[in-house]
Amino acid sequence: MPSLTQTQAGGNSGRFIAEALLKKGKHTVTAISRAQSTSKLPEGVNVKKVDYSKPETLVDALRGQDALVVTLSGFTPQETVDTIVNAAGDGDGAAKRRPKSDGAMQGR
Ligand SMILES: NC(=O)c1ccc[n+]([C@@H]2O[C@H](COP(=O)([O-])OP(=O)(O)OC[C@H]3O[C@@H](n4cnc5c(N)ncnc54)[C@H](OP(=O)(O)O)[C@@H]3O)[C@@H](O)[C@H]2O)c1
Repeated sequence: MPSLTQTQAGGNSGRFIAEALLKKGKHTVTAISRAQSTSKLPEGVNVKKVDYSKPETLVDALRGQDALVVTLSGFTPQETVDTIVNAAGDGDGAAKRRPKSDGAMQGR
């Protein structure tokens, strides 16, 4: 089953995306969430805790994943978004598809 990582699957919009993906049952869904986060994730979502100031934690979280969906808060600094996009392209086996900084998906 393809693996899909989603940032912030506990967010206002991210939660609905994660629940819809799980309902379809075609992917395993893993959420990237900050270590200090108190976000409540939908049942069935795997979670990987990351520290955006340590890009290697994102590379680890994305390793072996087939796709990445970014649903960060609109108030998140651009620098954080760039860190995720760069991490998706780093590391052997990291997500094969990654978002452009505007959130649209592109091939690797
Ligand atoms: N809400 C709406 O009605 C709505 C409507 C249309 C479009 N949108 C767009 O959809 C996107 C997501 O919006 P949303 O309302 O779903 O976001 P949100 O619930 O406010 O935040 C989503 C997640 O972002 C993470 N986050 C928050 N601040 C962060 C920071 N400084 N650094 C890293 N992560 C941070 C948190 O995840 P963790 O705590 O798990 O780390 C949080 O659960 C935005 O681009 C927004 O403009 C939203």
